[in-house]
Amino acid sequence: MTANIPQTTKTRYARAIVASKRARWDIDADVIRGRTFSPADKFLPDGLSLAGELGFLSDEDRVLFSQVQGRTYANVFGLVERFINAKVLEISQQYFLGDQTALEALVRFSDEELKHQELFRRIEALAEQSMPDGYSFMHDPNGVARVVLGKSTWSVLALTCLIELFTQVHYKDSIEPDARLSPLFKDVFRFHWMEESQHAVLDELEWAVEDARLAPAERDRAVLDLIELVAAVDGILKAQSEADAAYFLVKANSSFSANEQDVIRAALLRAYRYQYIFSGIQRTRFPEILRQHITEAQFHRITRALSALG
Ligand SMILES: [Fe+2]
Ligand SMILES: [Fe+2]
Repeated sequence: MTANIPQTTKTRYARAIVASKRARWDIDADVIRGRTFSPADKFLPDGLSLAGELGFLSDEDRVLFSQVQGRTYANVFGLVERFINAKVLEISQQYFLGDQTALEALVRFSDEELKHQELFRRIEALAEQSMPDGYSFMHDPNGVARVVLGKSTWSVLALTCLIELFTQVHYKDSIEPDARLSPLFKDVFRFHWMEESQHAVLDELEWAVEDARLAPAERDRAVLDLIELVAAVDGILKAQSEADAAYFLVKANSSFSANEQDVIRAALLRAYRYQYIFSGIQRTRFPEILRQHITEAQFHRITRALSALG
């Protein structure tokens, strides 16, 4: 099967290739450069970690709070990039004997996601060296990918588009402007952002290609798949926020009252839902792109499901 691509779309694939070549970087030579983390380093900015809401945290505990979330942030990206890459390789098959520009853009996309997963494994290892023992990331990338890839391509591309759009907003609005972040942590997400900008363009193109293939009843099922995928993401966030809260409460310097412990647990879940679901919906073009593909009734179904997440 080959896809026929209009000229304007062809130009967008070609531009993505040019941008990808320009951004290209190396994990050691450009990003890590022999650096390590120190226990005093702040990882995730307050705009994403919601640390500003916890006025009772000491400065030292505030740093640990940012580190736990930053470490999880790197691990979550490593996890989602497993299924994103598998889906990109799968959809690239339609261009094997067709448009070679689209194929090259997707092959570069895949190559970059493999490199990003390696980068996030390196960051996890560096965080492990500098942080107190006992942190654990609860989810296996392959297990999650098997569940996600069992859903319709339309819904996986929609979720991927959401993720790759919020990645950019997180960097530009929160990570880049925070002068107190670890320079290494900031560089990881600066270089990641440089290559992700093209991915969001390609997600949007491929989502439209897939959408054009679907009959209305298939699209209706795909909307349900998307709702189930977001619910699955939320399940991951709940489990990880509980694990991260337990780790933080044991490793923090202060001891907290029962009420403060509840506030910390709730803030972590709210921060994770904001980072991985709501920031993409509230602060990117995602709803606009979604609306191009679905009916008002389907849009409301998705909105209702999201508001049930609280
Ligand atoms: Fe990536
Ligand atoms: Fe990406």
